[in-house]
Amino acid sequence: MALIRLDKFLSNAGIGSRSQVRDYIKFRRVWVDGVACVKADTKIDIKKNIVTFDKRVVSYEEYVYIILNKPKGVISATEDDKEKTVVDLLDEKYKKMKVFPVGRLDKDTVGLLILSNDGRFAHNTLSPKKHIKKSYYAHINGKITEEHIKKFEEGLVINGGYKCLPAKLSIEYSADNFSKVHIIIKEGKYHQIKRMFEAFGKKVVYLKRTSFDDITLDETLEEGQYRLANDEEMKIIEKFIKK
Ligand code: URA
Repeated sequence: MALIRLDKFLSNAGIGSRSQVRDYIKFRRVWVDGVACVKADTKIDIKKNIVTFDKRVVSYEEYVYIILNKPKGVISATEDDKEKTVVDLLDEKYKKMKVFPVGRLDKDTVGLLILSNDGRFAHNTLSPKKHIKKSYYAHINGKITEEHIKKFEEGLVINGGYKCLPAKLSIEYSADNFSKVHIIIKEGKYHQIKRMFEAFGKKVVYLKRTSFDDITLDETLEEGQYRLANDEEMKIIEKFIKK
């Protein structure tokens, strides 16, 4: 039996933010099984109770937000004939809920990937106009210098002629044939980080996503492990799903 608080039910169903829906409840605009319900913490059985808002039935779809530490060797897709996908890593329960990866990491990239069945979250974070900040940690097969940092700041032109938005590069370690760097970009072109280093004739030999907006990779998750977003992460996610 799936029980959920009335205010959560309404905000998950897209009626409004938690505080807005509490006002709606207070002002008797929300009814449960034909009776006005003024208590935000009333437990709703999503399979049995009929909830209406301003006399219209509220349809409820259960959304999940999964925080995965993506391992190497799996592709960011829901299904594939040949390759193992990130969805293959999940419990049957989530597969049935039609979860998909929100955005894409390359097959050999590891780190933070969010999976969800909420199209609004995907739409509002993946839209190129949103400029969501994403951070990466990378190993590069060559020396990275101040000169490269400047070029990142100015906006690099990558293969295909695209001029990237200004990005932040910082150096953790740099030697003649190996460097460790951190990158923050605000867009997500195909193979973007790899192409940015290719513009200098260098190769990314290891790539890990360490954050997505203000959600940082939970390093207690081993590669391949996942969990549902916690309360703090849900606050960040909710920013993107409000109407
Ligand atoms: N940039 C890349 O080149 N690959 C990724 O997986 C993510 C960003």
